[in-house]
Amino acid sequence: MNQAPTASYLELFAAEVRTGLSLPGQKELPSKYFYDELGSALFEAITMLPEYGLTRASERLLQAHAEEIVADLHSPLVVELGCGTGKRTRSLLEALTRRLPVTYCPIEISGAALARCELEIGQVRGVTVVGYEEPYLDGLRAALPAERPDSNPALVLFLGSSVGNFDRPAADEFLRQIRALMRPGDALLLETDLVKPTEQLLSAYADPIGLTAAFNLNLLARLNRELGADFDLSQFEHLARYNPQHGRIEMHLRSRIEQRVHIPAAQIEVSFAAGETIWTENSHKYRPEDLDPMARRTGFAPRARWTDESWPFAQNLWGVDP
Ligand code: AVI
Repeated sequence: MNQAPTASYLELFAAEVRTGLSLPGQKELPSKYFYDELGSALFEAITMLPEYGLTRASERLLQAHAEEIVADLHSPLVVELGCGTGKRTRSLLEALTRRLPVTYCPIEISGAALARCELEIGQVRGVTVVGYEEPYLDGLRAALPAERPDSNPALVLFLGSSVGNFDRPAADEFLRQIRALMRPGDALLLETDLVKPTEQLLSAYADPIGLTAAFNLNLLARLNRELGADFDLSQFEHLARYNPQHGRIEMHLRSRIEQRVHIPAAQIEVSFAAGETIWTENSHKYRPEDLDPMARRTGFAPRARWTDESWPFAQNLWGVDP
């Protein structure tokens, strides 16, 4: 069952939907709304698709390099932004707990995903789990209080290339905000999906069995469920294209016909021309040479990088210098 959304959450959701669908040119919806309980389950299924190599690359790197990643870290505090099910983090925590007991703070907006993660990681010996069902920065502020003892350096994890779902300037700003809550001695492990052949990317984001299409369309189903909208899902189709200029996959929902949709809770009626799209997500891909400059301009010191060759993907360890 989905948890009932709170009134203030629904107000914000309705306001953001109204803004995005009233834009004069390209209509938009924020990708953060993909992740209700069904959307999170669909995303988890996407990670198992043979065409979507990103999550397996992340898991391979975490497994192969867990010892190296934690070798110079003395962090009894591990904070993860967006923990998902917690499966991929397990090997890293196991490597760290071979040396010291760890407090693990997953920060996750989806209560269902957080509960699964707490269950999975709660089984790892030497780990105490303290979860935060909050947006990233609110959770990070709570998990990394300013008055933390010096003996408590933190390792912050931002895995699965979720940073790629921010526009590039917004990603920089977000990384700066993370940095502002960290202090010398802390470290950030940031995963970034790398540029790869367009065909490979397109089959990952427009997969042949239609899981990504369902993930994308669930956004409209959510507007129907939560905001009382009357989208006819059969009259919209999933579209994924690669934009080489910006180095990103762009996902859209395309209206098959001219139509009008009502969204009572957002107090709007929206007209679509046949072929018109709603832009729902960007997934940025990085060039290896962009990563160290990204660390420096957002206040971090690049320390190490591990790369998966079969699905080009990078794991970046950035420190915080005094
Ligand atoms: C969560 N995020 C990193 C995924 C991605 O690849 O950008 C979301 C996703 N969108 C479509 N498929 C997966």
